[in-house]
Amino acid sequence: MTNLTGRMDDKERLEELRRDVPEKVAATDTLEELADLEAAAVGKQSVVAAARRSLGSIDPEKRREYGRFINEVASEISAAIDTRRASLEAAAEAAQLEQDRVDVTLPGRRPRRGSHHLVQEVMDEIVDIFISLGYTVATGPEAETEYYNFTALNFPHAHPTRLDTDTFYLDYGDVPEGVLLRTHTSPMQARYMEQNDPPVYVVVPGRCCRRDQTDPTHTPVFHQVEGLAVDENITFGDLKGTLAHFAREFFGPDTKVKFLPHFFPFTEPSAEMHASCFACAGRGCRICSHTGWIEMLGCGMVHPAVFEHVGYDPEAVTGFAFGMGADRFAMVRHGITDLRHFWENDLRVLGQFR
Ligand code: DAH
Repeated sequence: MTNLTGRMDDKERLEELRRDVPEKVAATDTLEELADLEAAAVGKQSVVAAARRSLGSIDPEKRREYGRFINEVASEISAAIDTRRASLEAAAEAAQLEQDRVDVTLPGRRPRRGSHHLVQEVMDEIVDIFISLGYTVATGPEAETEYYNFTALNFPHAHPTRLDTDTFYLDYGDVPEGVLLRTHTSPMQARYMEQNDPPVYVVVPGRCCRRDQTDPTHTPVFHQVEGLAVDENITFGDLKGTLAHFAREFFGPDTKVKFLPHFFPFTEPSAEMHASCFACAGRGCRICSHTGWIEMLGCGMVHPAVFEHVGYDPEAVTGFAFGMGADRFAMVRHGITDLRHFWENDLRVLGQFR
């Protein structure tokens, strides 16, 4: 009898379930809630499962009909749940898609492009012009010995630029000669010739230092490009032709040059080359300080004493050398009147010239 009672109770509860489930299913908002509901309705602990378990103990005649009834209820419930699951899943996916939505028509965020520093650009440009003439490129140490910076370049021992009022000396402790931050790129003339036999055609870009007070046209750190050509029968005519070509390449094809006598210990004769102003064609303007000319470089024929220091025979070879300041070229080219703008690291200044 308990079986029968149980069966009847189960049957009522199944009917009730069948009635209530659609509403409960419809009320679920999430897949988790729906899973809980499914477990309660048709899971192992559910009325449906209990009813199925009781089947074995009821009257075989009723069993088939009751079994069919249970299955009917169970599949109705499952169908309702499956339908709801499909729509909840679709809604969840739609929500995810909405969240992940990318508007491909929005303008992108451009990465900020960097660029070379104006001084580096100018150095590269100078070097490129000489490369196109067949020169090679070398670089040397920024911490240099007094020998290469001065002595090998025929500077007398008492020359004022050797003083520590003009030059930064490094404290290397007990070393036989002074070590300093090179004051020019010329020491590479001696180093390069020691390492290479003639002919030599080389340019040397690099950083130099002098104990200068910072002002609109001086900074203690600056940049030069050195050049050296040594071969048989090199003449002052070769110097002029090469450097005039360089000036035209750098400032434009109409550029004129003039050479003024000058003095450097390591060249004889020595000269300063000036170029007609590219901005005013020599008429005079702000760029050329109203002179019509831009001072470009120091140059001259390599002094025999320098050849002797590096073991070259001054009777067998001749050569010319030149050196120029890249920072000033960059100022002139871009019409910048204060050198300090280059080194204050204000991107707004440098960014204008991209
Ligand atoms: N070293 C010189 C300076 O710093 C520039 C220079 C002048 C270099 C004449 C040379 C040269 O090679 O021949 O002022």
